[in-house]
Amino acid sequence: MTLTEKINAQIRDIADFPKPGIIFKDITPILSHPKLVTEIVDWFVEKARRDEIDVIVGVESRGFLFGMLIAEKLGVPFVPVRKEGKLPYETINYSYDLEYGSATMEIHKDAIKKGQKVMIHDDLLATGGTAFAAAQLVKELGGKVGNFTFLIELGFLEGKKKLTLENEAVYSIVTY
Ligand code: PRP
Ligand code: MG
Repeated sequence: MTLTEKINAQIRDIADFPKPGIIFKDITPILSHPKLVTEIVDWFVEKARRDEIDVIVGVESRGFLFGMLIAEKLGVPFVPVRKEGKLPYETINYSYDLEYGSATMEIHKDAIKKGQKVMIHDDLLATGGTAFAAAQLVKELGGKVGNFTFLIELGFLEGKKKLTLENEAVYSIVTY
């Protein structure tokens, strides 16, 4: 089995979660398979080495799961981007529109040093709004976006278009 097939076999589709009409991609079964977790981490680590990444930024909350493991394996810093009001120190924030309403993401203002090359990591790329917000925060702190990585990409939502305006690399293991 390829890595994509192994991941596919462990992703559960949950109908009408968190709201009617949404089919939720539940990745938690993957976490019960440590060898698969290692293979996934190694796949992302290779992308980080290829693009000479200095820092891994993981997006709350499911971007923390693999983001921290990638950083640990590479021996580079991990930085959380969190939803509004969760980070204790001084932050900068970026707000973006959702289908209904808006969301705000934050990062600690000293988390990235000028010129550092950053991987933005999350479990899933849908419309791209969340990853775009994380990228704006990194750039505002003087960092460069080296690449974006996702376990899953919902290709039909075309989120990639929003992330590649300056030819940034986007890597996803499984695309639907
Ligand atoms: C999901 C997913 C991504 C984001 C993708 O997170 O984990 O972070 O949505 O959507 P987008 O590309 O349209 O912005 P969610 O908001 O469900 O939060 P969670 O990870 O904390 O559960
Ligand atoms: Mg998320």
